[in-house]
Amino acid sequence: MTLILGIETSCDETACSVVRDGKEILSDIVRSQSVHNEFGGVVPDLSSREHVKFIDSICMEALHDAGLHIKDIDAVAAVNGPGLVGSLMIGLMFAKGIAIANSIPLITVNHVKAHLYANFLTDEQPEFPFIALVVSGGHTSLFNAQSWDNLEILGTTLDDAAGEAFDKCAKMLGLGYPGGPAIQKASENGDACYHRFPRARTGSYDFSFSGLKTSVLYYIRDTGQENVKMNLNHISASIQEAITEQLLNRAENAMDELGINKLVLAGGVSANKRLREAASDMCSRKNAAVFIPPVKHCTDNAAVVAGYAFRKYEREGFSSMDVNVYSRSSK
Ligand code: KG4
Ligand code: ZN
Repeated sequence: MTLILGIETSCDETACSVVRDGKEILSDIVRSQSVHNEFGGVVPDLSSREHVKFIDSICMEALHDAGLHIKDIDAVAAVNGPGLVGSLMIGLMFAKGIAIANSIPLITVNHVKAHLYANFLTDEQPEFPFIALVVSGGHTSLFNAQSWDNLEILGTTLDDAAGEAFDKCAKMLGLGYPGGPAIQKASENGDACYHRFPRARTGSYDFSFSGLKTSVLYYIRDTGQENVKMNLNHISASIQEAITEQLLNRAENAMDELGINKLVLAGGVSANKRLREAASDMCSRKNAAVFIPPVKHCTDNAAVVAGYAFRKYEREGFSSMDVNVYSRSSK
């Protein structure tokens, strides 16, 4: 039996969780930072400061909820990248402190793989190989996933991430941050065909959302604020549809061209109701399997960190105490 305490601080959530044997979630605490709301996006320095303020109490709460003491924990895991360097540093250094003070090993975890692991904390789990679409505020990546050690990247975003596109469009519409849930809510009863915003064609599996952003900017300028106010639900639904269609177009092409009949979603944007529905429709039309995590494990959380840490430990053992954080690239 292995009890792992997982820590997530890669962006604007401070999260700690205890998971047994990579499967059984004993506690799952997430604190989302609201200091960024007025800026319409994450301010890195504010994020680090908030993590420093709350990481201790969030970890204590996770242990308390699990009915455990730190002495009961077998290993501590932290995300060390990709993400915001200052924020990652808080989580990793805190984890190292716990490891040294309690003579327990450290396991560092890749943020993207942790997101994917949300699909392995459920009763029905995907088997490799599958096409994986990881969509969040920082990443938009399409993988030919052959195994945990062989995630071949097929495409990535050439500019903004899908979550960033939601956030920036929401800001232009005056909807606040985070933009994804705000646009989803504003879209209720909206007509997704009201206005056709562009779906970028990159000629590859890569994504691009900067054209959409510019087009929303011009649309608001040309039609005026009164129109935005009157037709907010239709405009929001049309933006949501443009993002959804582009994401699923690449995923479907990859499934067809590689002959892989299984799609796995992960990351904050996969919490989106329309994307979930459209991915399920597309897969059922093709007689393919689709795996979408529960909403609470789509956005940043530490249960996926503690869970994936166990799988990583099984393959690679523990991490060195010399390990550092990194902002980009998949390691
Ligand atoms: O995975 P995540 O929590 O953090 C990163 O790794 O970036 O993803 C956060 C992103 C934000 O851009 C947020 O707007 C988006 O996920 N998001 C959504 C929804 N919930 C969160 N986007 C669309 N619809 C949602 N319901
Ligand atoms: Zn994330």
